[in-house]
Amino acid sequence: MEYASGRHFLQIPGPTNVPDRVLRAMSKPTIDHRGPEFSELSLEVLEGLKRIFQTAGPVVVYPSSGTGAWEAALVNTLSPGDKVLMFETGHFATLWRNIATAFGLEVDFVPTNWRHGVRPEIVEKKLSEDKNHQIKSVMVVHNETSTGVTSRIPLIRQVMDRTKHPALLMVDTISSLASIDYRHEEWGVDVTVGCSQKGLMLPPGLGLNAISQKALEAAKSAELPRSFWDWRAMLDANRAGFFPYTPATNLLYGLREAIYMLEEERLANIFVRHDRHAEATRRAVRAWGLEVLCENPAEYSSSLTAVMMPDGYDTDALLDMVLKKFDMSLGIGLGKLKGKIFRIGHLGNFNDLMLAGTLAGLEMGLSLAGIPFSKGGVTAALEYLEGTHRQNAG
Ligand SMILES: Cc1ncc(COP(=O)(O)O)c(C=O)c1O
Repeated sequence: MEYASGRHFLQIPGPTNVPDRVLRAMSKPTIDHRGPEFSELSLEVLEGLKRIFQTAGPVVVYPSSGTGAWEAALVNTLSPGDKVLMFETGHFATLWRNIATAFGLEVDFVPTNWRHGVRPEIVEKKLSEDKNHQIKSVMVVHNETSTGVTSRIPLIRQVMDRTKHPALLMVDTISSLASIDYRHEEWGVDVTVGCSQKGLMLPPGLGLNAISQKALEAAKSAELPRSFWDWRAMLDANRAGFFPYTPATNLLYGLREAIYMLEEERLANIFVRHDRHAEATRRAVRAWGLEVLCENPAEYSSSLTAVMMPDGYDTDALLDMVLKKFDMSLGIGLGKLKGKIFRIGHLGNFNDLMLAGTLAGLEMGLSLAGIPFSKGGVTAALEYLEGTHRQNAG
């Protein structure tokens, strides 16, 4: 490939741009993972993660991608033949379903049109009908990265409580953690699945499970085979700041720095920042005369926006153009949305001018790729961003 000067714009919805502070933290020499310095590092990181998940309970960290953390949630809590309730909100929900099926779970997979999130009333219906409590777990992707739709977890918790159903609630926060408001404990979630390469601003390589007391109890009788993912060995070793196998030491250095940064900015401000950038992006999309994939404004994602292509135009040519001319990567359409949408990531280490650059590259790309659209999206976004600054100053 030709040399491209300046900085690459990594605007896929994860992995996200890794801040220099995190990169520098990771460049320290690797240390003995059985020594006192490591134990201090991991105890600090494990405590910090609890604050990010908003829980007092344990969080475990695997040297894995998010897919490993999905598998860990299942094998630690369920037994072969258990019934679970899942929702086809998009590509990632489908992949999680595939893991459940591979482990011999009986999945009730509720379809959607991939343009809205989990409907609480369907959860309520399914749980009310399940008089014998055959459903052992309700499993939801909080922010469906393939569609830019965020399901409303507190409403799902409410219907689970209203029907007095004892199922576990498991939530994938892979593209929402530290980007969109999420409260493991207050929302009564039993297992939250996360990973490093999105809101936590790290490279890929860490998979996370936040675990409730009820999930720890379920782990005692769960019969799915587990070894690498076993919470028990992990939690035993973690008590003294160690791991049952070699941890991803340098990523933990990066994670410690990322937690410092998130806490310097504060979670509440981070969520507002993501909401602003998402709203500015949607204004740009509408000004271009294009359509946001998410149908329900109450479910708009603040970490990414999926945009529908006009009929007869494929996203590949547009994304190729934007990469070649402006050195920017945008998200492709996944699964059944391949070629039909593109996704703008606006999560992680990100600010107004990075968004301005992203939208400017896209507006020029739309024009160069010959897509029918109206100019003015960048201006609409900038006016909104400027307006919110003015309001805050006033
Ligand atoms: C919502 C969601 N869940 C799960 C995954 C899978 O994570 P990984 O690719 O790190 O295994 C992804 C990846 O982007 C995701 O966005």
